[in-house]
Amino acid sequence: MNAKDLFEYHCVTCHGSDGKGTKRGQALKAPNLSDANWQASRKDEEILNSIINGKNKMPRWSDKLKEEEIQSLARYVRKLAPQKRP
Ligand code: HEC
Repeated sequence: MNAKDLFEYHCVTCHGSDGKGTKRGQALKAPNLSDANWQASRKDEEILNSIINGKNKMPRWSDKLKEEEIQSLARYVRKLAPQKRP
């Protein structure tokens, strides 16, 4: 599965396809992953670490997903940022 499919399969229930967060995700205090300020506030390692080990109500994924899948998801999260237009 590519990163987009993995995200659609495992993550959209809380984060939504666009990363803004569903009702369920927002109730659990999921951030808006597509927000530029949020993106700027996290290092790549922090994003990776949160997906691997979980964080508060965010489940851990190291039991369910392979390391390379988690890495591709961490890169995918970066693509949810607003696209800069020239
Ligand atoms: C059950 C709901 C739920 C699911 C499913 C879920 N998340 Fe989350 N996620 C959360 C919540 C809640 C937070 C906020 C954690 C916090 O900061 O308290 C979060 C935070 C995050 C963050 C930000 C972490 C940080 O360092 O601030 C990333 C990145 C993330 N999720 C990615 C994913 C990915 C990728 C998946 C799918 C593999 C996923 N999430 C699945 C609920 C979920």
